[in-house]
Amino acid sequence: MSDAHPLIGQIKSALDTPALIVDLDVLDANIKRVADTCRTHGVGWRPHMKGHKTPEIAHRQLGAGAIGVTCAKVSEAEVMAAASIRSILIANEVVGAAKVRRLIDLVGPADPIVGVDSLVSVTELSDAASAHGKTLKVAIEVNTGMNRAGVEPGAPTLALAAEIAKRPGLRLVGLFGWESHACTLPDLAEKERTVKEAVGKLTATARACREAGHGIEVVSCGGTGTFPYCIQQPGVTEVQIGGAIFSDRHYREHYHMDFPFALTVLATVTSRPTPTRIVLDAGRKTMPGDAAMPQPLGLPAVAAMRLSAEHAKIELEHPSDAPRIGDKIEFVVGYHDTTVHLHEEIVAVRKGRIEAVWRVSARGKIK
Ligand SMILES: Cc1ncc(COP(=O)(O)O)c(C=O)c1O
Repeated sequence: MSDAHPLIGQIKSALDTPALIVDLDVLDANIKRVADTCRTHGVGWRPHMKGHKTPEIAHRQLGAGAIGVTCAKVSEAEVMAAASIRSILIANEVVGAAKVRRLIDLVGPADPIVGVDSLVSVTELSDAASAHGKTLKVAIEVNTGMNRAGVEPGAPTLALAAEIAKRPGLRLVGLFGWESHACTLPDLAEKERTVKEAVGKLTATARACREAGHGIEVVSCGGTGTFPYCIQQPGVTEVQIGGAIFSDRHYREHYHMDFPFALTVLATVTSRPTPTRIVLDAGRKTMPGDAAMPQPLGLPAVAAMRLSAEHAKIELEHPSDAPRIGDKIEFVVGYHDTTVHLHEEIVAVRKGRIEAVWRVSARGKIK
């Protein structure tokens, strides 16, 4: 689709708005930084795709050395498989007959690994896989301190591993955890210590599982907010760092990450009701401010900004003729994860010119 797009070669200000834009030089540099850091530490990179939801970006990551993708949902995994990506970790529990059937159907066309953290789920997956004559790879989700899903490290994980080993249709291949409780820690030494402690629980449990005879090949953790510490922990085989490739104000301000911003929204000034007020055609349905507010670029000093569903309203500190109605303003996104899935396309731009238009094929894939 991107080859045939009439906008290719045009300057980005030619875009109709609102438009979601990725700067390719920044995207590629962010991808390279994560890929190189993983390579240096001998750890695989299996980026989470929940943020970009776009096969072209997944292929760009694979081209840079990623070993596969991480998904949150079966329907996301289906989109990745349809784009010829085989190695997929679904870092989540998949429960219920309809979804489990779709998961089993992916075994063959792709090579999925799915999370489990209960006997109930193990039983459902084992019954479905054996009924269809397939072997499904599973990884136990371990609670390393985030306190969301996951089995406790140590004995409880070993007990679930032993149950999986008895079940037909399943093969235990690994363990995974997500040390998200460390993301917001402002003190880097404390963040490093917290990641080390959390991931240490995962790697120690992996060792114990191997000693008990389980073939643990995958020990997966990590995310942008714990970069680069998650990569440096001995015993980790792969990390799931996803959103770093885009970066955003949430990661910058709350996770203290220095990745340059690759993702912006272009909006048009549609009204100037007063010399200090600017109204634009992009609101919460285009660029949410839930985790952090989008940041307008190139404006005089801003006193306040509010988003309604379809409008942004900016109050300048001082009266100004600029920008004028019809001018286009770019915003750094607040949080890419709640922004990208609202858009049908990402426009890929290099040095101000449109190079490709990518479909966000997994938008809406929440099952
Ligand atoms: C299972 C899992 N892994 C990793 C991550 C980190 O993703 P990202 O690097 O995009 O912040 C998350 C984020 O919420 C997650 O839920």
